[in-house]
Amino acid sequence: MKLKSLYPLVLAALAFGGQASARDLATVKKSGKLIVATEPTYPPFTYTQGKKVVGFEAELAELLAKQLGVKVEWKTSSFDTLLIGLGQGRYDMVIASHGITPERQKAVDFSSPHYCSGGVLVSKSGGPKTLTDMKGRKLAVQLGTTYATRARSLPGLGKIQTYPNNTDALQALMAGRTDAYLTDRFVALEARKKMGGKLQIGSLVFQEKIGIAFQKGNKTLLAGVNSALKKAQADGSYEKLSEKYFGEDIRCR
Ligand code: ARG
Repeated sequence: MKLKSLYPLVLAALAFGGQASARDLATVKKSGKLIVATEPTYPPFTYTQGKKVVGFEAELAELLAKQLGVKVEWKTSSFDTLLIGLGQGRYDMVIASHGITPERQKAVDFSSPHYCSGGVLVSKSGGPKTLTDMKGRKLAVQLGTTYATRARSLPGLGKIQTYPNNTDALQALMAGRTDAYLTDRFVALEARKKMGGKLQIGSLVFQEKIGIAFQKGNKTLLAGVNSALKKAQADGSYEKLSEKYFGEDIRCR
């Protein structure tokens, strides 16, 4: 088919929710690069050092790409726009600690979980530690996250405060503008490490399986990344990386 005859189709596809189809495994391999998006305010999973995206998920994506014989080209965006961009074909995959939820599974396909974790309450020392303590108090969450969704179903909260990124939410907590922050257990542990004794970690509110997102129907790339992950989890390279960041192996069991 001539390109020209495809043009009306492409336009129709773009008009229809701005979809452009994702690159399959063969196309990615041929191009030599995997375009990966994340939101890098989320240490120790993804954060920046200068202009470089680093962290557990950054290194994991690079490890998986290496197995596919390609290099990672990083793109960054705010957390709440990542899956939309994926649907528009802007990236090949998104690795940003997305909890695998039925809601998200309607829009994207997920890899096998690359780690398991949960949402915890984090507060300043002496602050609220349990959901009961949170009665009538202010809770901070990051926009577009499973923490934001979960917070809405918690009874008795005074107020939910939504922040665009993790850095701002933590700052609000330190500055006393909010009483507690609902975030990932390992993100909370990292923040506590950085803030010395000023932060405390309270109750585990829920658990979740975290996966890498692909455009719906991109079966070959999903399968390629899944087998690379399986191999990394079998040959010790995943465990080594996990130990480096967490001092433990955080794969789902
Ligand atoms: N695990 C949570 C979720 O699935 C939060 C992820 C936030 N990630 C980030 N890069 N800020 O929504």
